[in-house]
Amino acid sequence: MGVAMAGTAASAWPMGSRRLGGDALEYRSSFNEGWRFHKGDAPGAEVAAFDDAKWRALDLPHDWAIEGPFDVKYNARCGGLPFHGIGWYRKTFDVPAEAEGNVVYITFDGAMYNAQVWINGQFLGNRPYGYSEFRHEVGKHLNHGGSNVIAVKLSPEDLSSRWYPGAGIYRNVWIDYRNPVHVAPWGTFVTTPTITETQATVHVETTLVGEGDIGYEIIDPNGGVVAAGTTPDLVVENPRLWDIDSPNLYVLRTTVRVDGAMVDQVETRFGIRTLEFSKSGFKLNGRPVRIQGVCLHHDNGPLGAATYRRADERKLQIMKQMGVNSVRTSHNPPSNEFMDLCDELGILVQDEAFDVWKIPKVENGYNRFFEEWGERDIKDMVRRDRNHPSVFMWSIGNEIIEQREKVEGPRVAKQLNDYVKELDPSRPTTCGFNWWPGPYQTGMAGQVDIAGMNYKPLAYGAPVNEFLPNHPVVGSETSSCTSSRGVYHLLIEKYKTHESKQVSSYDLIGPPWAYPPDVEYDALERNPEILGEYVWTGFDYLGEPTPYGGKDNSTNGYWNADWPSRSSYFGAVDLCGFPKDRFYLYQSQWTAKPMVHVLPHWNWEGTGHSTIPVYAYTNCEEVELFVNGASAGKKVKGKDLTQLLVKFNRYDGDTFMSKYRLSWDVPYAPGSLKVVGYIGGKPVAEKEIKTAGAPAKIRLVPDRSGIAADGADLSYVTVRIEDADGNLCPLADNSVEFEVAGAGRIAAVGNGNAATTAPFQANRRDAFNGLCMLIVKAGKQAGTIDVKATSQGLQPHAVHLTAR
Ligand code: GAL
Repeated sequence: MGVAMAGTAASAWPMGSRRLGGDALEYRSSFNEGWRFHKGDAPGAEVAAFDDAKWRALDLPHDWAIEGPFDVKYNARCGGLPFHGIGWYRKTFDVPAEAEGNVVYITFDGAMYNAQVWINGQFLGNRPYGYSEFRHEVGKHLNHGGSNVIAVKLSPEDLSSRWYPGAGIYRNVWIDYRNPVHVAPWGTFVTTPTITETQATVHVETTLVGEGDIGYEIIDPNGGVVAAGTTPDLVVENPRLWDIDSPNLYVLRTTVRVDGAMVDQVETRFGIRTLEFSKSGFKLNGRPVRIQGVCLHHDNGPLGAATYRRADERKLQIMKQMGVNSVRTSHNPPSNEFMDLCDELGILVQDEAFDVWKIPKVENGYNRFFEEWGERDIKDMVRRDRNHPSVFMWSIGNEIIEQREKVEGPRVAKQLNDYVKELDPSRPTTCGFNWWPGPYQTGMAGQVDIAGMNYKPLAYGAPVNEFLPNHPVVGSETSSCTSSRGVYHLLIEKYKTHESKQVSSYDLIGPPWAYPPDVEYDALERNPEILGEYVWTGFDYLGEPTPYGGKDNSTNGYWNADWPSRSSYFGAVDLCGFPKDRFYLYQSQWTAKPMVHVLPHWNWEGTGHSTIPVYAYTNCEEVELFVNGASAGKKVKGKDLTQLLVKFNRYDGDTFMSKYRLSWDVPYAPGSLKVVGYIGGKPVAEKEIKTAGAPAKIRLVPDRSGIAADGADLSYVTVRIEDADGNLCPLADNSVEFEVAGAGRIAAVGNGNAATTAPFQANRRDAFNGLCMLIVKAGKQAGTIDVKATSQGLQPHAVHLTAR
């Protein structure tokens, strides 16, 4: 926020700006509205006079691929959605005559993929990497006092990604009118070199365009100015630290004056906290913190890759409920909104740049651009994100194929590490290695400050210490267990794939490199010096439907063998945000508030199974199981073990005795299954599931019934199929139809089924194991949003939301 005037501070320009108070003006406006879109090539569309009247009118952010339709020809590995091909966007906008002399930036938070940009027919440049933020200075090309056209051509390619990348201008776009003398974009870098209980020094580096006098103010979490000065070192007394449970944020306000007149003002949020990494662990503000992390891809399930602040917020809130304290942004920089939310919610971020360097993983991947763009892309990630207190590690790559190269691996790792350190010496670097022990032998792992191990719990301790005795190690990718919410296959077996194209939720199944969460818990317990883990993954994501689909070496990158399997099964939470059982397994390991969870469902009549394995996940000391009111006995956590079927690369044996789950074999009789958790002999948590009767009614449960009328806020409405008594029907697949009227509309529907081609943008959805999801998006007018759900043979339900 700040001033941006070519003339005096009191001028009314820039248009559309808001007064912030005093003589400060906001120079940045959203550039999301009023675009035209054409899917396919459109020769000549870069020329201003081109006629786009017949193109579709839309507002950004926009992901054209999520609109579907699903088709196997788009490659199940990338979600089976039409993300590749050419797409054009154009926007016509007026620039007032008074803007002459302003520096004008148009900033794209991200455009997928290979964005070529023209303004008034003038080519400005291209940006291949779809996850990088980029901007163009357009001032000299503008038609002041008249109309202007910006044109953007995108060309995502087939076989360019290992997951669903999305397609289009899928992140926010901004226009900034700045005085010729201004703080350069990303031109502020705040660090806090010394912190004691009573004082923190705040050091600022400012890059100015032009010449002016700089002044600083620091605003504390309550909004009061607590320090001010013109030198780059300021002191904050009694600093309120940024921490996981108290994410206190300060703001640095930089003011630029020329001959006494304010010409620019920029606000930069930062936090005051200390990070310490050593072989014996990680400390945040002097306190040991074990990383309870998840890897997350950038998509938001049924909404696709388009940025919705609320979708990211909900995702992170659900992860926090699971006990997550850190996120790895696998395998690319996320949206700005995601980063802001991590600051606000107290989530540590491992910010990751790349999935590939020069050696390809897929035929048309980023490797083709790495030589030319790699330095720029990683540096821009650091410049963009280095003021976020949540960022505590920079990752230079994931499972980079150069791991196998004796010379190239260490060489490029060192180079990328140096690029990062040049811009931010205050945080450590890391890299996710899956090749064992190659990168440790060649010294590549030693080129980063923290070695990331993907799927190597067996190498923790002595094996890795032999190479890196004093080097911190983190489980950068762990478990990769797969499951489908609400699906239980009996008898329990460790199959590779199942004819249903679903995966059983007894939390055992995974590809050959994968293992149940329990194995990682055990390895971390035995090796307390490992910094912690990043589970693959917190949420299901679009694409990569392992264990279904195919193998690269036999399918040339196409994963179509088990269509319609088209999205991941790795999540502890499904694509709609509904927790799977694994969510509770992590919660039992990562949280302290007493909880207990029981699985499977209790509707086994007519299946021929007379004895059902029942598992309980808990953080309590003991759990007692009650079947139809009668105790089936107490089990003690840590003492009563559950035998799991486990087989993965380099693991000897076929089983693992887990102390992380309790289990009983229960003769099936319909009725109720109840678990009670005890601490110190006292009941402190319980959960009950009942045999459900026939589906009788729909129940809508919005996560928020009041949302902002800003054209972007969302209400996630859980749709439950219940029996006459209100029990969830755990096998129901009823088809539900939605009507949304008034001040909002349907943004998407979904149900968490990874193997269906039913569209996300529709007004109906089949339930999947009793649940589906309706996502309602607010319009820009305040009012009531009426939501109604009907289904043949079921009692309908209606709820009313408010957009304010
Ligand atoms: C890892 C890879 C991830 C994902 C995962 C699935 O090897 O880094 O991106 O593919 O496997 O288990």
